[in-house]
Amino acid sequence: MSLAASPAAPLQIDEQLARVAQSGLASRPKTLPPWLFYDEAGSELFEQITELPEYYLTRTERSIFERHASEMVRLAAGGSRLRFTELGAGSAEKTHVLMKAALALQNQLVFEAVDVSATALLVAQARIEREIPGVHAALLEMDYTNGFELEACDRGERRLVLYIGSSIGNFEPEESARILHKVRRQLDPGDGLLLGVDLVKDKSALQAAYDDAAGVTAAFNKNMLVRMNRELAADFDLDRFLHRALWNNTMSRMEMHLESCVDQCVRFAALDWEVEFAAGESIHTENSYKYRPGDAEAMLAAEGFACAGTWTDERGWFEVVLGQASSR
Ligand code: AVI
Repeated sequence: MSLAASPAAPLQIDEQLARVAQSGLASRPKTLPPWLFYDEAGSELFEQITELPEYYLTRTERSIFERHASEMVRLAAGGSRLRFTELGAGSAEKTHVLMKAALALQNQLVFEAVDVSATALLVAQARIEREIPGVHAALLEMDYTNGFELEACDRGERRLVLYIGSSIGNFEPEESARILHKVRRQLDPGDGLLLGVDLVKDKSALQAAYDDAAGVTAAFNKNMLVRMNRELAADFDLDRFLHRALWNNTMSRMEMHLESCVDQCVRFAALDWEVEFAAGESIHTENSYKYRPGDAEAMLAAEGFACAGTWTDERGWFEVVLGQASSR
């Protein structure tokens, strides 16, 4: 048998990925959008992040649900039957607490899970239907940031949109207002939006959450480079980039960057293109906005929601706000 290498199969290039990589790395400062994190490996790394001791967000939000889910769903239902619609549902793991609270008020629940990842949706559906009898999971594979249409609720039903997990914090303020606006357009007066936001706190707690001791967040950040190496035949050397997590007080956000340790040139063979990095130059990969008490209520009010309740944890680190769609 010959050991000669067979010619490599031609690389199928994702045009959108190629476009954002080239334009982001050609700009000053260099940027890449956070959606690039979430290929299969990145989604798995994110699941690991949510279990890290330093990453308090998931655990804290879950503790708020565990304590207050009954009140949240009772207020949202206002005597009607609820239907849940979760944006960016992923594994929908934290939503189980809310589903069980809803099932204490009604014996069946429609759960519409919206996500760009069909795999994540199928996993979430199998688990929910196995573990929580009475829930019917409907899967909506779409990118909610591009606008979306939801089917009307049944008579006597109220929709509760779940936008939790601090997902809104990864968008710039104008973009998050646009998303809330699109959600409001899909709702009838009385329907609800449950929003989970991370609050400003001590800088050291924030920095640890985005730069954990085990290096999982560093691997998550560098996964963008791994992805470009694989999908665009780039030659990023991961050891020549450092993961940086910085608190930007003026902008009230955690920032993630990948900083070049040396002067270097990275080649994208699939694009026949190269990009230069100076030592110390970085790629800005993510913003994670942190809010002050009252900010989430103000964002909701600006898009046509009245605040029906706000819940936080003992340390005041995370907040869940229930907005109710007002009549126009
Ligand atoms: C998905 N999102 C809410 C996470 C966050 O905290 O901004 C993504 C993340 N980035 C680093 N760690 C986790």
